[in-house]
Amino acid sequence: METQPKSIPVIPTTRTCPFDPDAEYKRLREEDPISPITFDISPGPKEGWLVTKHADIRAIMTDSRFSHRAELLALATTPPFDVPSYDPEPSGPGSFVRMDAPEHTHYRRLLTGFFTVRRIQEYEPTLAGIIDQCLDELAELEPPVDLLKAFVQKVVYRSVNSVMGVPAEDVAELDEHFSVIMRIDYTLEEFIHHNTLLNETLARVVKNLFENPNDKLLGKLIATGELTEEEVTNIAWITIGGALDTTPNMLTLGTFAFLEHPDQLAKVKADPELMERAVEEMLRYLTISHLGATRVALEDVEIGGRTIKKGQSVVLSLPSGNRDPDQFEDPETFDVTRPARRHMAFGFGIHQCLGQHLARATLRLGYQKLFDRFPDLRLAVPADQVPLRDKAMHYGVYELPVTWG
Ligand code: HEM
Repeated sequence: METQPKSIPVIPTTRTCPFDPDAEYKRLREEDPISPITFDISPGPKEGWLVTKHADIRAIMTDSRFSHRAELLALATTPPFDVPSYDPEPSGPGSFVRMDAPEHTHYRRLLTGFFTVRRIQEYEPTLAGIIDQCLDELAELEPPVDLLKAFVQKVVYRSVNSVMGVPAEDVAELDEHFSVIMRIDYTLEEFIHHNTLLNETLARVVKNLFENPNDKLLGKLIATGELTEEEVTNIAWITIGGALDTTPNMLTLGTFAFLEHPDQLAKVKADPELMERAVEEMLRYLTISHLGATRVALEDVEIGGRTIKKGQSVVLSLPSGNRDPDQFEDPETFDVTRPARRHMAFGFGIHQCLGQHLARATLRLGYQKLFDRFPDLRLAVPADQVPLRDKAMHYGVYELPVTWG
């Protein structure tokens, strides 16, 4: 009979190296791969599970007995201030991330065509032009500079502009607010302030697009005549938010990882064909969704000798799954020659990242062109002084001071 396990209070997030997840995941994978955790939810704690092995995470992500519905989920983190009661509502229309089929399928289908491999291949020349222009502007600056502000953010703002049809200044403004509400250590005042401004900015952007629809993603969605302003606003929230909190962190943290692994960088420079593989390995090695994905059981489910009860939430640790030695040989090593494509940095199953091919292209062209143009790029501060973005939904660095010449 299953013994009643002792709960562990939080998701492990301590870092001793900027690129490695908490060492506790290794122990959990070996000793307790589906381990009990307690969600600290008002008005009272809720029991749930932390899943750390690749095969179990994949199984849960493709099992329709597990839901992603907002109103059922307990989240891996709760706001860092007292809330009277955690009682989430169902996702608003269009906000398909925290919906199940068939509602999720309905909205996702409207967007899939904009992000296929072919569409992104067609978009690559535009993206390459944006990156070249941002590198020209970087070259004008006097080093040292913060690479995040001076290069990475510009690339992403302009690419979101060219894909979604939202003016780059508005994207920058949205990012200012997303970057606060995607943290897990904001104050109540910060949350209210930035969430209000975020919603106002989005509402203004979408209203303008309804009045003057352009031929980019959001304009084309509006032109179908099938979506309300509320639906388009929610779709804009998740696609722009999805792009802004992720790719910049991967591009900046990945550059840091390359600079700290000069042998691997040298291999990619010697053989540029390797960059595609290196990007997959970088996604695996860094897995910036460091709080994992969350799902909730719709019925009792037996898995790995455990019973996940109906209504219990599970945190699927993507960083841990991507360091699982049963899937990846010598998983703690960053090896650009490794075939890492089975990684779960973009999740798996029906919610697998919508923007993954765009993200891949941005990372491949971004790293390639940055190191081609600045072959002697190096950190401008000791590595242990780079500020780590570890109190946020997506891991990264708050800035990356670099120099050259
Ligand atoms: C390196 C960059 C990125 C990473 C690491 C990443 C990671 C992820 C992960 C792990 C999920 C699945 C979450 C879950 O199953 O609970 C996801 C979903 C999603 N991502 Fe990304 N993402 C990236 C870039 C982007 C971009 C550029 C977009 C812009 C369109 C985007 C939009 C989305 C959306 C809309 C979803 C929800 C899909 C659904 O529920 O059907 N992401 N992403």
